[in-house]
Amino acid sequence: MTTEIIAIGPERAADVLAVVRAAFAARPVLDPPADALAETEETIAAMLAPGGGLLVLDEGRVVGTVVLDPVDDAIFLRRFGVDPAAQGRGVAKALVRAALAEASRRPEARRAVILAREELPRTMGFWRDMGFVETGREAPYVEMERPVPYVAEVPSAEEMRELGRRLAGLLRAGDVLVLTGELGAGKTTFTQGLGEGLGVRGGITSPTFVIARVHPSLGEGPELVHVDAYRLDGRAELDDLDLDTELDEAVTVVEWGSGLAESLSDDRLEIRIARATASTDVDPEADPRVVEIDPVGRRWLGIDLRP
Ligand SMILES: Nc1ncnc2c1ncn2[C@@H]1O[C@H](COP(=O)(O)OP(=O)(O)OP(=O)(O)O)[C@@H](O)[C@H]1O
Ligand SMILES: [Mg+2]
Repeated sequence: MTTEIIAIGPERAADVLAVVRAAFAARPVLDPPADALAETEETIAAMLAPGGGLLVLDEGRVVGTVVLDPVDDAIFLRRFGVDPAAQGRGVAKALVRAALAEASRRPEARRAVILAREELPRTMGFWRDMGFVETGREAPYVEMERPVPYVAEVPSAEEMRELGRRLAGLLRAGDVLVLTGELGAGKTTFTQGLGEGLGVRGGITSPTFVIARVHPSLGEGPELVHVDAYRLDGRAELDDLDLDTELDEAVTVVEWGSGLAESLSDDRLEIRIARATASTDVDPEADPRVVEIDPVGRRWLGIDLRP
């Protein structure tokens, strides 16, 4: 399936309505009934007017939708739906990620919020997997939210270290950071800045033979535990490191930790680093990266990662 996600405005209200109806027809009947069933093209167009929405196209056919409704510093993801014929193929997750990416481009948007029906535990589980946590309940609705990820273009290694130094100011003992990005992406460079910002003993390198290194604090702050999971052979070996005992007192950074380190903590910063193409040809030395900092869990609610 070749899918594409596009930004839309009120002119595509009919497409949104068609997906909403198809998606809701396949859900259990609820009492009181879902508001979505009362929607018309006009009400959807009005909902799309302030902040637009997204459509998922599968070879031109509309199979998924979400309305992005700005309310103060939040973006409510409303009328989220995937056509039952396209379910089970990762469309819903891709759509949430696209909605969060879109939100991260809107300077006023700090939080993404959804309302789920409490009778649908699987739906709530889906949002929890996407980093949302429950913030309120007014039967039959549960409100869940998460911070919007922070995306930065980082033009040089020095600015990567600077990003690490700045982020260190937001960290405290017990925090876990999971770094992903190909060989040479800049994970260790970022961690060096983090170590400087935390004020720990230096010498942060990509450990070749050592899997985990502890950098003690030179002052009062937490130590830094730096793990390189590249050669770790799965979860069992991560458990062997016995990090749990140090987790509470340290800031823990795991390179190549995706798929492993999630189980270390429900709360974490997932940091994804990718090479970017230089946006200008002014500086032939430029070797920029795009860094996405994606906060997961209750720890990060209400915390603004932007400078
Ligand atoms: N914009 C940039 N951000 C980060 N590093 C950069 C940038 N431009 C150039 N570099 C260089 O790229 C290299 C990144 O190496 P680093 O060891 O940090 O990567 P890594 O992701 O830890 O790799 P590995 O997976 O091998 O551990 C460094 O030599 C750094 O100086
Ligand atoms: Mg490294």
